[in-house]
Amino acid sequence: MILTILGGGGFRVPLVYQAILKDTSDERVTELRLYDIDESRLQTIYRVLTELNETADYHPRIVATTDLVEAIAGADFIFSAIRVGGTQGRALDEVISLKHGVIGQETVGAGGISYALRGIPEVVAIALQVKKHAPNAWVINFTNPAGIMSEVMQRYIPGRIVGICDSPVGLARRILTALQRAQLLPQDLPTNVPGNKRVHVEYAGLNHLGWITKLLVDGQDVIPVLLQRPDLIESFEEGRLFGANLVQSLGSVPNEYLHYYYYPRENLQTDQKSDHTRGRYLEEQQNRFYTQAESTETGVFNLWERTRLEREQTYMATNREATGNFERDTQDLESGGYDKIALAIMHAIANDVPAELILNVANQGVIKELDDSAVVEIPCRVDGRGIHLPETAHLPDHARGLVVNAKYVERETILAALDHSRADAILALAHHPLVDSFNVATQLLDDLVDHFEALQPLGKHDV
Ligand code: G6P
Ligand code: MN
Repeated sequence: MILTILGGGGFRVPLVYQAILKDTSDERVTELRLYDIDESRLQTIYRVLTELNETADYHPRIVATTDLVEAIAGADFIFSAIRVGGTQGRALDEVISLKHGVIGQETVGAGGISYALRGIPEVVAIALQVKKHAPNAWVINFTNPAGIMSEVMQRYIPGRIVGICDSPVGLARRILTALQRAQLLPQDLPTNVPGNKRVHVEYAGLNHLGWITKLLVDGQDVIPVLLQRPDLIESFEEGRLFGANLVQSLGSVPNEYLHYYYYPRENLQTDQKSDHTRGRYLEEQQNRFYTQAESTETGVFNLWERTRLEREQTYMATNREATGNFERDTQDLESGGYDKIALAIMHAIANDVPAELILNVANQGVIKELDDSAVVEIPCRVDGRGIHLPETAHLPDHARGLVVNAKYVERETILAALDHSRADAILALAHHPLVDSFNVATQLLDDLVDHFEALQPLGKHDV
């Protein structure tokens, strides 16, 4: 089986590779193709993987290439994990947004819109090449903003693209662990999600904008048990972030990225005070890693692992500072997110072993507030025949307006990028709940156009 990773020089590729090395199934990866436009980063990651090979009984053949067609031709699975504009672009999105008094996070608000506007043309180009050179491949999209990018790809290669995110299953796992620690669940219950046959998660929304509404363990919903115990709510990451009051009022447990929506003022203040945005921090950290790796002969994996741990420890640090100021649980520093989900999809399809996974797929009537082609994040069943949707996924009342509005913003962003439409870009920015003035939307867009060449087709106010 041939697997291609677009963005193969990316920092998180070794995580996926470690999961590949653990796979002992019949239909496992025999050839891994890493594609990247940055030759030097590609070589560094290639070296990390080669070091990992020494620890494994079996490993696939690895090909590293900067030629897209060579990378995808005849592939069975393609992981798309690109970052258009690099971490430098991410940092710029944040800094420019903050200058205009709005949050610039990479997937939420103005930052997410800017990042999507830059990325959409590249993602379309990739989808067209996949259609031509890898007509039978399944594309698994990791590229953020994952909801928007999956919806874009779906227009070009419908039925063979699925978007993934690890935050919903991470949330489910943390709730289960909290209940188990409090002796409210059997000690022998595995808390891993996905791949847990005793657990069913009911989750609905869009990427980074969803809620767990029910969490069934052996058929029994445990969310009501959690909601009665503020101490338990505040014993796991999301509960601490949001606070027991909010979670109890909602009656469902929000994805961690909703922190930006429920606490915009606190997040903005903390971000503005902080001397480093997340993007700037990662830009420096990654530059350091890739530079050091070049001058290191052996032990590149150890260097990578140390850097990864530090990255996990500081994940959502400003959000935690804005409401609560706490350290992450050590178990949340372990991998077990993206890599596991991506491998689980491949495994379910290639070996025809059914699995339940929370995925970004075209709605097809599942969430009644949205039309059929809208990409939504919902629990699906995957097997050798493909992806099967649930009959329905229920949005809590408080979530309906937010989700319908966010889908409108996503679609205006897509229209803006595809049609080079300034009007649609402004409609997208102005309707985002985290952009609080039409003037801000207009000035922000002008500033983004000045800083990013890829955004120039959107034009300026005075031309
Ligand atoms: C979570 C999110 C991803 C994001 C990742 C890394 O897993 O679901 O969408 O890419 O965190 O975030 P970071 O800030 O470390 O790049
Ligand atoms: Mn995500």
